[in-house]
Amino acid sequence: MRIFVTGGAGFIGSALVRHLIENTNHEVLNFDKLTYAGTLSTVGRVASSNRYRFVQGDICDAEAVKAAIAEFKPDIVTHLAAESHVDRSIDGPGAFVQTNVVGTFTMLSETRAYWLGLDDEAMAAFRFHHISTDEVYGSLGDTGLFTEETPYDPRSPYSASKAGSDHLVSAWGHTFGLPVLITNCSNNYGPYHFPEKLIPLMIVKALAGADLPVYGEGDQVRDWLFVDDHVHALQAVFEKGEPGRTYNVGGNNEKQNIEVVKTVCAILDRLRPRADGQSYATQITYVADRPGHDKRYAIDASRIKNELGWEPAETFETGIQKTVAWYLDNQSWWEAIVAEHKADQRRGLSV
Ligand SMILES: NC(=O)c1ccc[n+]([C@@H]2O[C@H](COP(=O)([O-])OP(=O)(O)OC[C@H]3O[C@@H](n4cnc5c(N)ncnc54)[C@H](O)[C@@H]3O)[C@@H](O)[C@H]2O)c1
Repeated sequence: MRIFVTGGAGFIGSALVRHLIENTNHEVLNFDKLTYAGTLSTVGRVASSNRYRFVQGDICDAEAVKAAIAEFKPDIVTHLAAESHVDRSIDGPGAFVQTNVVGTFTMLSETRAYWLGLDDEAMAAFRFHHISTDEVYGSLGDTGLFTEETPYDPRSPYSASKAGSDHLVSAWGHTFGLPVLITNCSNNYGPYHFPEKLIPLMIVKALAGADLPVYGEGDQVRDWLFVDDHVHALQAVFEKGEPGRTYNVGGNNEKQNIEVVKTVCAILDRLRPRADGQSYATQITYVADRPGHDKRYAIDASRIKNELGWEPAETFETGIQKTVAWYLDNQSWWEAIVAEHKADQRRGLSV
């Protein structure tokens, strides 16, 4: 199949692109604006494949989207391009509304116009797959899980913009009959994660001998999923999912942020011990909590398991071990990014 991937130079999009080129016969067009969060080094090892091509473009630019779709003639659009960092959405919500809401509207409009021109068989087989987050559901108390029926209750500008985009996708399915799929996934981690996000940020700061800033008391709970498991879930959904349906994707790995940071420190202590013999955990400092910080996210992923046979292959323990080892083995990848963003003084956990 011909798969049009938006955001394929980012963290999850690039993992999807690498997987599709290395492990399947699908053809891929990677459509990415290359914002601060996107870098082609994430897809460097597949860039020479004759089943891969790249177009630098903005999902808000209808003409650019139209031209790329017309030229590539996709069977599937997988839409990952987004502004994705909650801290940045507090400091500057406008970009999130623009890219996540207006950009998704543009993708839907141009995809629909293309889809209407297909023959009946291709129209029926076509899929528009929107990649979203569990953050649209809001925050859980100490118990309970998000199901696909949980009402939307987004609480950050990021999650509100993703909720808005989910509603648009759903509306294009109901109103125009576009065969849409939505996945709402929990927190991902793994290789090529931009080093402003919690896990890579802690690795980078630990190795630099800097403080490891943890929001509040570090007791927020997230359900961590290794990025390659997410990629396999996405493939299961766009290949076998039922149009109009939403699938929750989660790792069954609920951890408090402080547990995550301490685990990263313990692995670093083993793999790259500090010269003074002390633990990296001595660098942990607690900083003022982020406004509106959701307490707990946890996913009930039984629909995707029962209907599509997907389950995560990694536990948090195996995935985090691989992730820390990858950052140690690929220091030049993240050092270049950290150097480029040195002057970036943003809220809280900045690079
Ligand atoms: N990271 C997670 O834990 C997580 C969890 C669930 C869902 N998601 C969703 O998955 C998707 C990918 O997340 P990620 O972590 O890989 O994000 P990321 O920030 O690493 O990558 C986003 C990519 O989109 C590109 N992009 C941004 N604006 C664009 C625009 N206007 N036009 C074209 N390209 C643009 C960037 O250049 C970048 O390559 C997002 O939609 C996000 O909401 C992420």
